[in-house]
Amino acid sequence: MASSSFVTLLLISSFLSFSHIRVSEAATAPIVKGLSWTFYDSSCPKLESIIRKELKKVFDKDIAQAAGLLRLHFHDCFVQGCDASVLLDGSASGPSEKDAPPNLTLRAQAFKIIEDLRSQIEKKCGRVVSCADITAIAARDAVFLSGGPDYELPLGRRDGLNFATRNVTLDNLPAPQSNTTAILNSLATKNLMNRQGLFFSDQSLFFEKFVVAMLKMGQLNVLTGSQGEIRANCSVRNADKKKSFLTTVVEEVVEELIEM
Ligand code: HEM
Repeated sequence: MASSSFVTLLLISSFLSFSHIRVSEAATAPIVKGLSWTFYDSSCPKLESIIRKELKKVFDKDIAQAAGLLRLHFHDCFVQGCDASVLLDGSASGPSEKDAPPNLTLRAQAFKIIEDLRSQIEKKCGRVVSCADITAIAARDAVFLSGGPDYELPLGRRDGLNFATRNVTLDNLPAPQSNTTAILNSLATKNLMNRQGLFFSDQSLFFEKFVVAMLKMGQLNVLTGSQGEIRANCSVRNADKKKSFLTTVVEEVVEELIEM
């Protein structure tokens, strides 16, 4: 707990000790196939300004919500990639990622903020923007609006159709009681930082490294193109939304019987 709190504290205190810095263009990471810097330019040109404006209002009331949104994106990306799977509610097939121990301390309000943004964006642009992209933009704005660096985000993530099991979730998110070695190994495994670790003598260098890590994290195992879907409700797969709960249960029982 002490070491994880240290990582968190380091991140947050670093955000707070700077005011509105835009890191140099050098701070960028390779962009994965299927994402683009101009993805919503024609389908939802105001997307990023809608989110920033709304979050500014939210954070003016309670800046702690920024921490909740950043952590939500991290917990999404580390388990099965940045596919908004962490937002899904459990179903008849089992408990969701949300229900797994590392996610029980995510802020309920963070989930609500993402869904509120989604519905506001749908009103302006139609159902074109994924919950995964909204979560990534919200995390970036959480960093910036709490005094951290601003950076461009590649967009075009699609929403996953499934959530990970409890065990997969536990395997990918380090436990609060993990020691520093385990935490650094976890970050290194995802290729976000090297094992030399956390010491930065120069604060702007820290921001550059941080932005590169955020860009890499935000592109972990993304779904793009025709993969996944654009959810009509961030906590429910579209297929489940159209069906009643009973239909879903019956279908899953039938599927299990067929597999037997
Ligand atoms: C990799 C090892 C990590 C571990 C073990 C870890 C663990 C934790 C724990 C135990 C908490 C406190 C939860 C609570 O009781 O409320 C926390 C909070 C937080 N973590 Fe991490 N964390 C890690 C990495 C990260 C990373 C990479 C980020 C950001 C990209 C992050 C962002 C945050 C934030 C912003 C909070 C405060 C959330 C809030 O107040 O709602 N953490 N973390």
